[in-house]
Amino acid sequence: MNISILTLFPEMFTGVFGQSILNSAAEKGIVSFDVVNFRDYSKDKHQRVDDYPYGGGGGMVLTPQPMFDAVEDLKHRTSGEPRVVLLCPQGEVYTQQKAEEFAREEQLILLCGHYEGYDERIRQELVTDEVSIGDYVLTGGEIGAMAIADSVTRLLPGALGNETSAVTDSHSTGLLEHPHYTRPSEFRGMAVPDILLSGHHKNIETWRRREALRRTLERRPDMLENIQLDDEERSFLQN
Ligand code: ADE
Repeated sequence: MNISILTLFPEMFTGVFGQSILNSAAEKGIVSFDVVNFRDYSKDKHQRVDDYPYGGGGGMVLTPQPMFDAVEDLKHRTSGEPRVVLLCPQGEVYTQQKAEEFAREEQLILLCGHYEGYDERIRQELVTDEVSIGDYVLTGGEIGAMAIADSVTRLLPGALGNETSAVTDSHSTGLLEHPHYTRPSEFRGMAVPDILLSGHHKNIETWRRREALRRTLERRPDMLENIQLDDEERSFLQN
C-alpha cells in the first residue's frame, strides 16, 4: 500500500514514519510513505499556495492549483484510483471501521491544510472523503494524517509482530479491550485475578469477554448497540 501525504510541513512526519512499527512496515515493503510539500507544485512566481477569499472576510484560502497538480502526480504511483482524504474538522469522525476500509485500498492520499480553509473546488472535484479525528479544532491536518497513517498501517498483514493483536484489540472486536496483567502476580498488595493463573483457557476466555463487556458498558455504552450478545452475556450485563 502507498500512503501519500500532501502538507506544507513535511518535517513533522520524519519522527513518526522513521520509528517503530511504521518504519519496520515500510522496511518490510508492506507500506510506502510519500510526504510531499505541495508548495513545490505551485505555479505562482512566489510559490504561494493561498490567497484572499472572494467576497472578503478574514483568513486565507488554499488555492486549488497546487493541490490538483500534486494529487494528479501522486495518483500515477499506483494502478488504481486512490482515495483522496481531506483532513478537516467538518469531516466524518474517524473510526476503526474507517481505518479497516482504508486498509483495503491500494493508495491513500491525505491532504493537510494549515491555518486556512480550502477552496471549495478541492472538495468538489479532488476529494473522495472528508475526515475529522474528533470534535475539536487542530492547527492543521497533519496530526490527523499521522493518526490515519498509523491506524491503517498497523492493520496491514505482517505489520504487527503478533498477528492476533490487531484482531483482538479495542474497537476491532467492537468492544473495549479486557484488562491485562503480567508478572509479578502480586504488586503492592494488588493481586492478579486467580482465574488468569488457573491455566483454564476456556474460563479465561469467558472472563476476558465479560471484562471487555463490563468495561464497554461502563465507559462506552453506545458501542454495545452494535454487539450481538447471547442470553448469558445479556444477564451478566444486567447484574
Ligand atoms: N484539522 C483541524 N482540525 C482537525 C480535526 N479535528 N480533524 C482533522 N483535521 C483537522
